Amino acid sequence: MNEFLWVEKYRPQTIKDCILPQNIKSTFEDIVNGGELHNMLLTGTAGLGKTTVAKALCNELNLDYLLINGSEESGIDTLRNKIKQFASSISLQGGYKVVILDEADYLNAQSTQPALRGFIEEFSSNCRFILTCNFKNRIIDPLHSRCTTIEFNISKAQSAKLCVKFLERCKYILSEEGVQFEEQVLAELIMKHMPDWRKVINELQRYSTSGVIDSGILVSLSEISLNDLMLHLKDKNFKAMRQWVANNIDSEPAAIYRKIYDNMNDYIEPSSVPQAVLILADYQYKNSFVADHELNTVACLTEIMAGVQFK
Ligand SMILES: Nc1ncnc2c1ncn2[C@@H]1O[C@H](COP(=O)(O)OP(=O)(O)O)[C@@H](O)[C@H]1O
Ligand SMILES: [Mg+2]
Repeated sequence: MNEFLWVEKYRPQTIKDCILPQNIKSTFEDIVNGGELHNMLLTGTAGLGKTTVAKALCNELNLDYLLINGSEESGIDTLRNKIKQFASSISLQGGYKVVILDEADYLNAQSTQPALRGFIEEFSSNCRFILTCNFKNRIIDPLHSRCTTIEFNISKAQSAKLCVKFLERCKYILSEEGVQFEEQVLAELIMKHMPDWRKVINELQRYSTSGVIDSGILVSLSEISLNDLMLHLKDKNFKAMRQWVANNIDSEPAAIYRKIYDNMNDYIEPSSVPQAVLILADYQYKNSFVADHELNTVACLTEIMAGVQFK
Protein backbone atom coordinates (compact mmCIF):
# COMPACT_ATOMS: atom_id res chain seq x y z
CA MET A 1 0.00 0.00 0.00
CA ASN A 2 1.26 3.42 -0.92
CA GLU A 3 0.69 5.70 2.09
CA PHE A 4 1.97 8.63 0.10
CA LEU A 5 -1.19 8.55 -2.02
CA TRP A 6 -4.16 10.22 -0.38
CA VAL A 7 -6.56 7.76 -2.01
CA GLU A 8 -4.86 4.98 -0.04
CA LYS A 9 -4.22 6.92 3.14
CA TYR A 10 -7.89 7.97 3.30
CA ARG A 11 -9.47 4.77 2.02
CA PRO A 12 -12.41 4.06 4.38
CA GLN A 13 -11.74 0.98 6.52
CA THR A 14 -15.35 0.34 7.48
CA ILE A 15 -18.67 0.26 5.63
CA LYS A 16 -19.90 3.02 7.90
CA ASP A 17 -17.23 5.38 6.56
CA CYS A 18 -17.97 4.61 2.89
CA ILE A 19 -20.03 7.22 1.11
CA LEU A 20 -22.76 5.24 -0.62
CA PRO A 21 -26.49 5.52 -1.38
CA GLN A 22 -28.41 4.36 1.69
CA ASN A 23 -29.94 1.29 0.00
CA ILE A 24 -26.51 -0.06 -0.99
CA LYS A 25 -25.00 0.83 2.34
CA SER A 26 -27.76 -1.03 4.19
CA THR A 27 -27.09 -4.14 2.13
CA PHE A 28 -23.46 -4.13 3.28
CA GLU A 29 -24.31 -3.20 6.86
CA ASP A 30 -26.63 -6.20 6.99
CA ILE A 31 -23.77 -8.41 5.87
CA VAL A 32 -21.49 -7.01 8.58
CA ASN A 33 -24.20 -7.41 11.24
CA GLY A 34 -25.29 -10.84 10.06
CA GLY A 35 -21.73 -12.08 9.71
CA GLU A 36 -22.50 -14.04 6.56
CA LEU A 37 -20.82 -13.26 3.26
CA HIS A 38 -21.99 -14.73 -0.05
CA ASN A 39 -20.28 -14.64 -3.41
CA MET A 40 -20.77 -11.16 -4.79
CA LEU A 41 -20.23 -9.15 -7.93
CA LEU A 42 -19.75 -5.44 -7.23
CA THR A 43 -20.26 -3.42 -10.37
CA GLY A 44 -20.15 0.26 -11.34
CA THR A 45 -17.97 2.89 -12.95
CA ALA A 46 -14.48 3.76 -11.67
CA GLY A 47 -13.78 5.34 -8.29
CA LEU A 48 -17.12 4.58 -6.60
CA GLY A 49 -15.69 2.47 -3.79
CA LYS A 50 -16.08 -1.12 -5.04
CA THR A 51 -12.60 -2.26 -4.01
CA THR A 52 -12.89 -0.28 -0.79
CA VAL A 53 -16.14 -2.04 0.14
CA ALA A 54 -14.69 -5.48 -0.65
CA LYS A 55 -11.75 -4.84 1.67
CA ALA A 56 -13.87 -3.20 4.37
CA LEU A 57 -16.23 -6.19 4.48
CA CYS A 58 -13.31 -8.55 5.05
CA ASN A 59 -11.82 -6.28 7.69
CA GLU A 60 -15.04 -5.91 9.58
CA LEU A 61 -15.89 -9.60 9.41
CA ASN A 62 -12.32 -10.41 10.38
CA LEU A 63 -11.75 -12.68 7.39
CA ASP A 64 -8.46 -13.47 5.67
CA TYR A 65 -8.53 -12.26 2.11
CA LEU A 66 -6.46 -12.53 -1.03
CA LEU A 67 -6.68 -9.67 -3.50
CA ILE A 68 -6.02 -10.49 -7.13
CA ASN A 69 -6.14 -7.81 -9.79
CA GLY A 70 -7.65 -9.18 -12.99
CA SER A 71 -6.07 -6.47 -15.11
CA GLU A 72 -2.58 -7.43 -13.94
CA GLU A 73 -2.66 -11.18 -13.42
CA SER A 74 -5.00 -12.81 -15.82
CA GLY A 75 -3.42 -16.19 -16.68
CA ILE A 76 -5.40 -19.23 -15.62
CA ASP A 77 -2.42 -21.02 -14.12
CA THR A 78 -1.28 -18.12 -11.95
CA LEU A 79 -4.83 -17.59 -10.84
CA ARG A 80 -5.40 -21.21 -10.00
CA ASN A 81 -2.10 -21.59 -8.13
CA LYS A 82 -2.66 -18.46 -6.11
CA ILE A 83 -6.22 -19.33 -5.19
CA LYS A 84 -5.35 -22.93 -4.42
CA GLN A 85 -2.42 -22.03 -2.20
CA PHE A 86 -4.47 -19.45 -0.35
CA ALA A 87 -7.57 -21.63 -0.03
CA SER A 88 -5.73 -24.65 1.27
CA SER A 89 -3.73 -22.92 4.01
CA ILE A 90 -5.36 -22.69 7.43
CA SER A 91 -7.21 -19.47 8.11
CA LEU A 92 -5.57 -17.52 10.93
CA GLN A 93 -8.93 -16.08 11.85
CA GLY A 94 -10.69 -19.42 11.93
CA GLY A 95 -13.53 -18.56 9.54
CA TYR A 96 -13.77 -18.98 5.80
CA LYS A 97 -11.54 -17.02 3.46
CA VAL A 98 -12.28 -14.50 0.78
CA VAL A 99 -10.78 -14.11 -2.66
CA ILE A 100 -11.28 -10.57 -3.94
CA LEU A 101 -11.01 -10.63 -7.71
CA ASP A 102 -10.62 -6.99 -8.53
CA GLU A 103 -11.40 -5.81 -12.06
CA ALA A 104 -12.66 -9.25 -13.01
CA ASP A 105 -13.97 -7.88 -16.31
CA TYR A 106 -10.37 -7.86 -17.54
CA LEU A 107 -10.20 -11.64 -17.22
CA ASN A 108 -10.53 -13.34 -20.59
CA ALA A 109 -14.18 -14.27 -21.14
CA GLN A 110 -13.30 -17.29 -23.30
CA SER A 111 -10.72 -18.93 -21.05
CA THR A 112 -10.13 -17.41 -17.62
CA GLN A 113 -13.69 -16.59 -16.65
CA PRO A 114 -15.01 -20.10 -17.43
CA ALA A 115 -12.14 -21.54 -15.37
CA LEU A 116 -13.04 -19.23 -12.52
CA ARG A 117 -16.48 -20.73 -12.45
CA GLY A 118 -14.79 -24.05 -11.69
CA PHE A 119 -12.67 -22.53 -8.92
CA ILE A 120 -15.71 -21.05 -7.22
CA GLU A 121 -17.21 -24.51 -6.98
CA GLU A 122 -13.97 -26.29 -6.15
CA PHE A 123 -13.20 -23.99 -3.23
CA SER A 124 -16.76 -23.32 -2.10
CA SER A 125 -16.33 -25.21 1.18
CA ASN A 126 -13.98 -22.62 2.67
CA CYS A 127 -13.85 -19.68 0.25
CA ARG A 128 -16.13 -16.86 -0.80
CA PHE A 129 -15.48 -14.77 -3.88
CA ILE A 130 -16.01 -11.04 -4.29
CA LEU A 131 -15.65 -9.92 -7.90
CA THR A 132 -15.50 -6.27 -8.86
CA CYS A 133 -15.94 -4.89 -12.37
CA ASN A 134 -16.59 -1.68 -14.27
CA PHE A 135 -18.53 -3.35 -17.07
CA LYS A 136 -20.81 -6.14 -15.93
CA ASN A 137 -21.67 -7.13 -19.50
CA ARG A 138 -18.10 -8.38 -19.83
CA ILE A 139 -18.69 -10.95 -17.10
CA ILE A 140 -20.01 -14.26 -18.41
CA ASP A 141 -23.47 -15.46 -17.35
CA PRO A 142 -22.30 -18.50 -15.34
CA LEU A 143 -20.36 -16.13 -13.06
CA HIS A 144 -23.33 -13.79 -12.75
CA SER A 145 -25.50 -16.67 -11.68
CA ARG A 146 -23.03 -17.68 -8.96
CA CYS A 147 -22.88 -14.21 -7.44
CA THR A 148 -25.25 -11.65 -5.99
CA THR A 149 -24.82 -8.56 -8.17
CA ILE A 150 -24.66 -5.20 -6.41
CA GLU A 151 -24.80 -2.05 -8.55
CA PHE A 152 -22.81 0.93 -7.29
CA ASN A 153 -24.03 3.40 -9.86
CA ILE A 154 -25.67 6.44 -8.33
CA SER A 155 -29.02 7.81 -9.48
CA LYS A 156 -29.48 11.55 -10.07
CA ALA A 157 -31.79 11.77 -7.08
CA GLN A 158 -29.14 10.35 -4.77
CA SER A 159 -26.18 12.28 -6.09
CA ALA A 160 -26.68 15.67 -4.40
CA LYS A 161 -26.76 14.12 -0.94
CA LEU A 162 -23.64 12.08 -1.61
CA CYS A 163 -21.79 15.09 -2.98
CA VAL A 164 -22.48 16.96 0.24
CA LYS A 165 -21.08 14.06 2.26
CA PHE A 166 -18.07 13.83 0.01
CA LEU A 167 -17.47 17.57 0.36
CA GLU A 168 -17.21 17.04 4.12
CA ARG A 169 -14.79 14.20 3.56
CA CYS A 170 -12.59 16.33 1.30
CA LYS A 171 -12.56 19.12 3.87
CA TYR A 172 -11.44 16.63 6.48
CA ILE A 173 -8.65 15.30 4.23
CA LEU A 174 -7.42 18.80 3.39
CA SER A 175 -7.41 19.90 7.02
CA GLU A 176 -5.50 16.75 8.01
CA GLU A 177 -2.97 17.56 5.28
CA GLY A 178 -2.81 21.24 6.24
CA VAL A 179 -3.92 22.48 2.83
CA GLN A 180 -5.98 25.67 2.51
CA PHE A 181 -8.95 25.64 0.16
CA GLU A 182 -11.81 27.71 -1.24
CA GLU A 183 -15.00 25.85 -0.39
CA GLN A 184 -16.77 26.96 -3.58
CA VAL A 185 -13.93 25.55 -5.69
CA LEU A 186 -14.05 22.29 -3.78
CA ALA A 187 -17.77 21.99 -4.48
CA GLU A 188 -17.25 22.68 -8.17
CA LEU A 189 -14.45 20.14 -8.38
CA ILE A 190 -16.72 17.48 -6.88
CA MET A 191 -19.53 18.34 -9.29
CA LYS A 192 -17.12 18.13 -12.17
CA HIS A 193 -15.81 14.64 -11.46
CA MET A 194 -18.57 12.98 -9.45
CA PRO A 195 -19.20 10.13 -8.94
CA ASP A 196 -15.53 9.28 -9.48
CA TRP A 197 -14.43 9.97 -5.90
CA ARG A 198 -10.96 8.65 -6.56
CA LYS A 199 -10.46 11.24 -9.28
CA VAL A 200 -11.47 14.09 -6.96
CA ILE A 201 -9.01 13.03 -4.27
CA ASN A 202 -6.21 12.52 -6.80
CA GLU A 203 -6.81 15.96 -8.29
CA LEU A 204 -6.72 17.52 -4.81
CA GLN A 205 -3.43 15.85 -4.01
CA ARG A 206 -1.90 16.79 -7.34
CA TYR A 207 -2.94 20.42 -7.01
CA SER A 208 -2.13 20.69 -3.29
CA THR A 209 1.56 21.18 -4.11
CA SER A 210 0.61 24.70 -5.20
CA GLY A 211 -0.21 25.40 -1.52
CA VAL A 212 -3.90 26.24 -1.81
CA ILE A 213 -6.90 24.73 -3.61
CA ASP A 214 -8.17 27.62 -5.75
CA SER A 215 -9.96 27.94 -9.08
CA GLY A 216 -6.79 26.92 -10.97
CA ILE A 217 -7.65 23.29 -10.19
CA LEU A 218 -10.76 23.56 -12.34
CA VAL A 219 -8.74 24.14 -15.47
CA SER A 220 -8.55 20.57 -16.55
CA LEU A 221 -5.05 19.20 -16.66
CA SER A 222 -6.20 16.42 -18.90
CA GLU A 223 -7.43 18.84 -21.56
CA ILE A 224 -4.13 20.65 -21.57
CA SER A 225 -2.21 17.44 -21.76
CA LEU A 226 -4.40 15.98 -24.51
CA ASN A 227 -3.26 18.94 -26.55
CA ASP A 228 0.35 17.90 -25.84
CA LEU A 229 -0.38 14.37 -26.95
CA MET A 230 -1.92 15.49 -30.22
CA LEU A 231 1.10 17.67 -30.93
CA HIS A 232 3.42 14.71 -30.34
CA LEU A 233 1.36 12.63 -32.75
CA LYS A 234 1.39 15.35 -35.36
CA ASP A 235 5.17 15.75 -35.00
CA LYS A 236 5.57 11.97 -35.20
CA ASN A 237 7.56 12.24 -31.98
CA PHE A 238 7.37 8.65 -30.77
CA LYS A 239 9.53 9.14 -27.71
CA ALA A 240 7.46 12.04 -26.39
CA MET A 241 4.22 10.17 -27.10
CA ARG A 242 5.46 7.15 -25.16
CA GLN A 243 6.43 9.33 -22.23
CA TRP A 244 3.02 10.98 -22.33
CA VAL A 245 1.31 7.59 -22.11
CA ALA A 246 3.48 6.57 -19.16
CA ASN A 247 2.52 9.78 -17.34
CA ASN A 248 -1.17 9.67 -18.15
CA ILE A 249 -2.20 6.04 -18.03
CA ASP A 250 -4.20 6.01 -14.84
CA SER A 251 -6.64 3.56 -13.36
CA GLU A 252 -8.99 3.67 -16.35
CA PRO A 253 -6.99 3.40 -19.59
CA ALA A 254 -10.18 3.14 -21.64
CA ALA A 255 -10.77 6.83 -20.85
CA ILE A 256 -7.87 7.87 -23.06
CA TYR A 257 -9.53 6.36 -26.15
CA ARG A 258 -12.76 8.12 -25.34
CA LYS A 259 -10.99 11.42 -24.74
CA ILE A 260 -9.27 11.31 -28.12
CA TYR A 261 -12.56 10.35 -29.77
CA ASP A 262 -14.36 13.30 -28.16
CA ASN A 263 -11.72 15.83 -29.14
CA MET A 264 -10.25 14.56 -32.40
CA ASN A 265 -12.16 16.91 -34.69
CA ASP A 266 -10.03 19.75 -33.38
CA TYR A 267 -6.81 18.04 -34.39
CA ILE A 268 -7.41 15.60 -37.22
CA GLU A 269 -8.21 16.33 -40.88
CA PRO A 270 -11.91 15.49 -41.56
CA SER A 271 -10.90 13.00 -44.26
CA SER A 272 -8.86 11.08 -41.67
CA VAL A 273 -11.45 11.03 -38.91
CA PRO A 274 -13.13 7.75 -39.99
CA GLN A 275 -9.76 6.01 -40.07
CA ALA A 276 -8.98 7.31 -36.58
CA VAL A 277 -12.35 6.04 -35.30
CA LEU A 278 -11.63 2.55 -36.62
CA ILE A 279 -8.21 2.46 -34.98
CA LEU A 280 -9.59 3.70 -31.66
CA ALA A 281 -12.47 1.22 -31.72
CA ASP A 282 -10.10 -1.63 -32.47
CA TYR A 283 -7.72 -0.85 -29.60
CA GLN A 284 -10.45 0.03 -27.15
CA TYR A 285 -11.86 -3.43 -27.79
CA LYS A 286 -8.46 -5.07 -27.34
CA ASN A 287 -8.03 -3.08 -24.14
CA SER A 288 -10.36 -5.44 -22.31
CA PHE A 289 -8.19 -8.46 -23.03
CA VAL A 290 -4.58 -7.33 -23.07
CA ALA A 291 -2.27 -7.83 -20.13
CA ASP A 292 -0.40 -4.57 -20.59
CA HIS A 293 -2.57 -1.50 -21.11
CA GLU A 294 0.31 0.87 -21.52
CA LEU A 295 1.71 -1.17 -24.39
CA ASN A 296 -1.72 -1.44 -26.03
CA THR A 297 -2.23 2.32 -25.80
CA VAL A 298 1.19 3.07 -27.27
CA ALA A 299 0.44 0.63 -30.12
CA CYS A 300 -2.84 2.41 -30.81
CA LEU A 301 -1.23 5.83 -30.86
CA THR A 302 1.56 4.55 -33.10
CA GLU A 303 -1.04 3.46 -35.63
CA ILE A 304 -2.78 6.82 -35.42
CA MET A 305 0.55 8.59 -35.80
CA ALA A 306 1.34 6.61 -38.93
CA GLY A 307 -2.04 6.48 -40.61
CA VAL A 308 -3.85 9.74 -39.84
CA GLN A 309 -3.49 13.26 -41.32
CA PHE A 310 -3.33 16.02 -38.73
CA LYS A 311 -4.48 19.61 -39.20
N1 LIG B 1 -17.75 5.48 -1.57
C1 LIG B 1 -16.61 6.06 -1.18
N2 LIG B 1 -16.52 6.69 0.02
C2 LIG B 1 -15.37 7.27 0.39
N3 LIG B 1 -14.25 7.27 -0.34
C3 LIG B 1 -14.26 6.68 -1.53
C4 LIG B 1 -15.46 6.04 -2.01
N4 LIG B 1 -15.21 5.53 -3.22
C5 LIG B 1 -13.94 5.81 -3.50
N5 LIG B 1 -13.36 6.50 -2.49
C6 LIG B 1 -11.96 6.96 -2.50
O1 LIG B 1 -11.40 6.61 -3.76
C7 LIG B 1 -10.41 5.59 -3.61
C8 LIG B 1 -10.59 4.56 -4.69
O2 LIG B 1 -11.79 3.83 -4.49
P1 LIG B 1 -11.94 2.32 -4.97
O3 LIG B 1 -12.69 1.59 -3.93
O4 LIG B 1 -10.62 1.77 -5.34
O5 LIG B 1 -12.85 2.54 -6.27
P2 LIG B 1 -13.34 1.47 -7.35
O6 LIG B 1 -12.84 0.14 -6.92
O7 LIG B 1 -14.84 1.57 -7.36
O8 LIG B 1 -12.76 1.94 -8.66
C9 LIG B 1 -10.58 5.06 -2.20
O9 LIG B 1 -9.35 4.63 -1.66
C10 LIG B 1 -11.14 6.25 -1.45
O10 LIG B 1 -10.07 7.08 -1.06
MG1 LIG C 1 -11.39 -0.98 -7.90
